[in-house]
Amino acid sequence: MSTVCILGAGALGSLWAARLSNTHTVKIIPRLNKKSSLSGYDFSLQDAETTTTYHLPYLPLSSLPDGPLSENTRASSPSVILLVFCKSFDTLPALTAIKPYLPHHIPIVLFQNGLGSQVEVGKAFPDHPVYAAVTTEGANRKTPQHIIHAGRGSTWIGPFNKQATMAGAKEACAVLADSGLEVSAEADITLRLWKKLAVNCAINPMTALLNCPNGELPSQPYFTARYTTLCKELVLIMQLTIGYETTSDALKAQIDEVIRKTAQNISSMLQDLRAGRKTEIEDICGYLVKEARQQNIACPTITQLYQDVLALATTGSQ
Ligand code: PAF
Repeated sequence: MSTVCILGAGALGSLWAARLSNTHTVKIIPRLNKKSSLSGYDFSLQDAETTTTYHLPYLPLSSLPDGPLSENTRASSPSVILLVFCKSFDTLPALTAIKPYLPHHIPIVLFQNGLGSQVEVGKAFPDHPVYAAVTTEGANRKTPQHIIHAGRGSTWIGPFNKQATMAGAKEACAVLADSGLEVSAEADITLRLWKKLAVNCAINPMTALLNCPNGELPSQPYFTARYTTLCKELVLIMQLTIGYETTSDALKAQIDEVIRKTAQNISSMLQDLRAGRKTEIEDICGYLVKEARQQNIACPTITQLYQDVLALATTGSQ
C-alpha cells in the first residue's frame, strides 16, 4: 500500500483520489490560501453505473514535517507519491509552497494541460524525480462536492527530468493502475505532451471564442476557415522544436477524432471562461507563440487565437 498525496483536488484530482482510495492511503494537501477547519474533503463521484461518496483526510501543512511526506517516515512508508492536478498557472506556486516539506526522494507526477508548467517545475525541482502525465480521462464538477467521471480514457506517465527514470515511471504506473483506470509508462512523454498540446490548441481556444461544445466546431465557419492554417503552423512548430515529422492532414485526422469522441464536452477553457476563472491559454497558445518566436517563424493563426482569448478573458464576455 502506498501513500498518495494529491495537490489540487479539482475534478480530475478528485477522480484519481477517489479511485485510488480503495487500495491506497490518499491524503489531500490543502492549498496554503485555502485554510480549512474541516478534517477532510467530502465529495461524491458519479460514473456511468454508480455514485459513491468519499471522505478523504487533509494533510494539514502544519503537520507536513511529521506527516507522510517527511523523510523520517520513509522507512515505515516505503512508497509515497505526489500527484499534482493544479491548473497549469497554479502548479509552480503550489509546489513551491510545499517544497520545504518535500523530501527529494518523493516522485512528483504532473497532470497539467499544455506545456510550460512542466518545464518550470522540472527546472525548479532539479533534485526531485519529476514525471509528466498525459491523460484523456474526462471529469467535470457538477457542484463543488459532486464530480462526474464523464468519459473513460487512457493515461501515460513518463520521466520528465534527469532524476526521473523509466523504472520510476513504471512504479508510479503500478500504483496508479490500482485506480482501475488505464495507465501506461511512456518513454517519450514530451512527444505525447506536444501531441496533446496541438489538440488543445485547435479545440480549446476555438470553443472558447465560439462559445460552443467541441462537437459543433466542424460546422462553424470561423473554425473551418482557420483549421488548415492552424494545423500547418502546429506541424512546423513541432518539427522545428522537437524534430517531430507529421503532416497537417495527419494532425487534422487526430484532432477530428478527439472532436468526435468529445462532441458533447464543453472544453476546459470554455468552462473556465464561463465560470469567470483564469484560463490555461498561456500554457497552450502562449507556449506555442514563444516557441515559434524562438525558432524565428511566424504563427499568425495561433497568435490571433492567443490574443483573442486573452481579450475575452479581460472583457469576461463569455
Ligand atoms: O481541455 C479539454 O477540454 C480537453 O483536453 C479536450 C480534449 C479538448 C476535450 O474537451
